Amino acid sequence: MCGIVGYIGSKPAQQILIDGLKRLEYRGYDSAGIGLHGGTKIKITKQKGRIAGLSDALPRDNPIETVGIGHTRWATHGEPNTVNSHPHLDYSGKISVVHNGIIENYGALKKFLIEKGCEFKSQTDTEVIANLIGYFYEQETDCEQDCFEWSVQKALNQVYGTYGLAVMCSDYPDVIVAAKKGSPLLIGVGDGENLIASDASAIVEHTKQVIYLEDDEMAIVEKDDVTIKTIHNKRIERELKEIDFSIEEIELGGYEHYMLKEIFEQPDALSTCLKGRLDMNNYKIILGGIENLSRQLTTAKRFILTGCGTAWHACLVGEYLMERLARTPVEVEYASELRYRNPIIEEGTVVIAVSQSGETADTLAAIEMCKERGATVLGVVNVVGSTIARTTDAGVYLRVGPEIGVASTKAFTAQVAVLTMMAIELGRRRHLDNARTEQLITDLNKIPNIINDVLKYSDMIKDISKECGDRENWLFLGRGYNYPTALEGALKLKEISYIHAEGLPAAEMKHGPIALINDGMPAVFIATRCSNYDKIISNIEEVRARGGKTIIIANEGDEEIERYADYLIRIPNVDDALEPLVAAIPLQLLAYHCAVLRGLDVDKPRNLAKSVTVE
Ligand code: F6R
Repeated sequence: MCGIVGYIGSKPAQQILIDGLKRLEYRGYDSAGIGLHGGTKIKITKQKGRIAGLSDALPRDNPIETVGIGHTRWATHGEPNTVNSHPHLDYSGKISVVHNGIIENYGALKKFLIEKGCEFKSQTDTEVIANLIGYFYEQETDCEQDCFEWSVQKALNQVYGTYGLAVMCSDYPDVIVAAKKGSPLLIGVGDGENLIASDASAIVEHTKQVIYLEDDEMAIVEKDDVTIKTIHNKRIERELKEIDFSIEEIELGGYEHYMLKEIFEQPDALSTCLKGRLDMNNYKIILGGIENLSRQLTTAKRFILTGCGTAWHACLVGEYLMERLARTPVEVEYASELRYRNPIIEEGTVVIAVSQSGETADTLAAIEMCKERGATVLGVVNVVGSTIARTTDAGVYLRVGPEIGVASTKAFTAQVAVLTMMAIELGRRRHLDNARTEQLITDLNKIPNIINDVLKYSDMIKDISKECGDRENWLFLGRGYNYPTALEGALKLKEISYIHAEGLPAAEMKHGPIALINDGMPAVFIATRCSNYDKIISNIEEVRARGGKTIIIANEGDEEIERYADYLIRIPNVDDALEPLVAAIPLQLLAYHCAVLRGLDVDKPRNLAKSVTVE
């Protein structure tokens, strides 16, 4: 994903921009660049590859510019190369733009601009914005408002698509204009300095006071002032919000990678997620963010759980939980499909959107569509103040702190924990008997400690990775509550180790995928006592009969399983409804160790290792 940083103040901007871009590295990029305002001219340095390379290419002799914008690009229009990297200048060299998002009508706009005599250097949609702003800037010499600001507004009113933008004009050394539509952007408000960022982690070391821009809004950012307007020139008053995490939370803290740090943070993260929400005296669940809607939730006719990737897997666990504990109809939908479908949303439908970042475009679009059709939409989100948190009717925060690692780990277990709490509470209000409610709440409270115990197997899992990590095809199999866990295990391995992996409900294996199994192919089974144990044993036998290598996650004390396992990972016995919270941990560790042993940079997505173009 692309990243934006901007700075205007009294300090040298160059290092602030480079440091900010480094904080955004985890989002993935293929090229990077910065533009510095030199008073009358904008100086651009950009190149393909890492920020360290960009930093080396910048002058060392105490740069004095105090205004600038920076960008990490993840190619959408045109290949990842230096020319296509941001910032882009317009044809006059006066307007400089960094942009996240996609301009859908860039083809028509480009044609118009070419007809007007404009020449393009890159293949990007962003250069079209720069030239469109430049075109209006040149046209208008007598605007009532500020000409630079006016030309940005005028251009944005011609644009269809999504953008987070930061724009500089060489004639305006004291201002950066920022704008947002469908791509996150916030303004960091400091003392005699202001910043712009697509992600709070880029600026948290400078200020914790921020203004979140809404869609169709722009900010005129000066050193001592920030003015918010719509792109139709209407002034907006917007209160300051506080970033809810500290710089320490986004540092590695002694771990080799963010992914490992976040896996090991899970006992603490889940404790924070559960804290104050489990009423151990009355055996109730207290979720303040959705309390006002409790009657509506209790009487809801149907739930639609939606999200993408790992969040979608959490939704699947949620489906099993809500169906089993609350006896309520639940559908799980990929947000990327839901948004383009024509779903039936009758009265009494409640949608729960699950997202770590709170900014995933497909999830946001699905939310908008469901809201338009009258659904009540709840958010289960990690990032406080994110767009999903702000656009849903109510919600529950994950409270696990920033997730910097590319692979979602602690957010997954927290998403499952929140959905578990929702299911228990809904069940308690509907059908669940007191004894079962008490037992579930008591057991849920113990999960952070249990995860702590499972983390102790990290070295043993590393040994398994040493023996199996060279295999290119893996299967992950589970049943019941652990079918989604199997999907999640496969996704983690694919994403981090670039090993092909398939996750399946174990019984589905015989309906085709069994043909894949050959000598030594690793098959990871979640074969705890709770998950249809006998049935899963037969599935294990089928794999062994074909020469597959079995890596089995089984319960402590299960001796019978030993003869089926080439490799055995023990987890403590927990209620089957809570098992995904525990069984996910060894799978995260397995993916992590396989990737590291393969020499991969776990915290940097593949698009850094190889050039890719995504249209
Ligand atoms: C996998 C992963 C992705 C995200 C997905 C949704 O490890 O991180 O599959 O889960 O892109 O992102 P959020 O949760 O931010 O909406």
